Amino acid sequence: MNKTNRLGSLEPASTMFRYRALAARAGVATALSLAFGCGETVDDALGGGGEDFSAIYTEMEASGECSGCHAPNAPGIVAGIETTQDWSTEARAKSTLRGNAAGMIGNNEGCNGVPLVGDTADDSLLVAAFDEDVREGFELAAFPDCTADAIADQTLKTGGPLPSGLLADLKAWINAGAP
Ligand code: HEC
Repeated sequence: MNKTNRLGSLEPASTMFRYRALAARAGVATALSLAFGCGETVDDALGGGGEDFSAIYTEMEASGECSGCHAPNAPGIVAGIETTQDWSTEARAKSTLRGNAAGMIGNNEGCNGVPLVGDTADDSLLVAAFDEDVREGFELAAFPDCTADAIADQTLKTGGPLPSGLLADLKAWINAGAP
């Protein structure tokens, strides 16, 4: 009966929806170009985001799914997991990475208390957990028990090594002071 009227009254709402959808898409495009730099070609599977933590976070999650285990109530939590890291959001990841490792047991206990991100990439447990060379050379005077034997190889947890570009970005970010 009142079909025309009903359609007529829907029109302004649906027009508004179209504007909102366009605005949302524009927002996404802006966010992406801010994250990756305008006009630059970035292969986010291989790194290339430089020292930008936002890009690093996205890529770590894409290749390692850290938040599947390192987050409150994550499905992959097991006894002895490292509990300081929270990869559930970029902001939580960035802030918890400024903390010290905790919660590990057995063989890995020797690294509790060690800063996840140190002064340099070579002093960072976060890097040592993914880079065999850094792990082999790991030495912090204050934590003599956190040696290569105590540091768990996280590539066994993530199903393979991090893409080398991503590892390079992670190191560059830390060496730049983890901004
Ligand atoms: C399947 C679950 C799982 C996933 C996925 C996972 N981790 Fe872990 N992580 C653990 C557990 C369990 C430990 C405790 C040591 C061990 O058993 O490996 C740990 C320990 C660590 C440690 C401390 C290493 C040490 O021995 O001192 C770091 C750093 C770490 N994880 C970072 C990460 C990051 C970054 C990612 C994502 C790229 C990730 N992990 C993905 C389960 C996981």
